[in-house]
Amino acid sequence: MSAPDGFSFENAGGIWHVVAPLPAKDVEGHLPGFEDLVRAAREAKSRAYAPYSRFQVGAAVVMNGSMFMGANVENASYGATLCAERNAIASAVAAGHRRLEVVVVSTSVPSGTGIEQRSPCGICRQVIGEFGSPDTLVLLDAGDTEDGRIQGEVIAFESLLPWRFRLG
Ligand code: THU
Repeated sequence: MSAPDGFSFENAGGIWHVVAPLPAKDVEGHLPGFEDLVRAAREAKSRAYAPYSRFQVGAAVVMNGSMFMGANVENASYGATLCAERNAIASAVAAGHRRLEVVVVSTSVPSGTGIEQRSPCGICRQVIGEFGSPDTLVLLDAGDTEDGRIQGEVIAFESLLPWRFRLG
């Protein structure tokens, strides 16, 4: 797996590479649910509608403790395409939630693919910032290890989009 410098957590179900500047204590409390969230993002990915790019994306978000899923939904008018992350966030917001705690992204690239092809796009980062906080966790699915464990990166949202645009 290619990822920036940091440290790793390992357990029976997964290996998580934590990208600085996240302190361990901010990640540990969430760790037990990480693999389930990745499984949900992968399930959503299996329902992606991506006949044009053939690049399937699934997302799972935790907002106010509840999980919501989304997949990318493309359109013949390419600009009308909806990303997985924003679909998941929109579902959660429409259900009444406002505090974004965790975002998980799973794309259809093979294990070992670079982090850039598994990261949220710029528009999705701006939308994550609308409901998230600097320490909102962004998890990137990096596929399975040879022994069948889920692996991925954990990134503090702040390092994905510092100085995001705000009104007021
Ligand atoms: N896509 C997402 O769903 N999320 C992202 O963060 C990056 C891109 C989708 C949009 C389009 O359907 C396909 O991936 C290729 O860009």
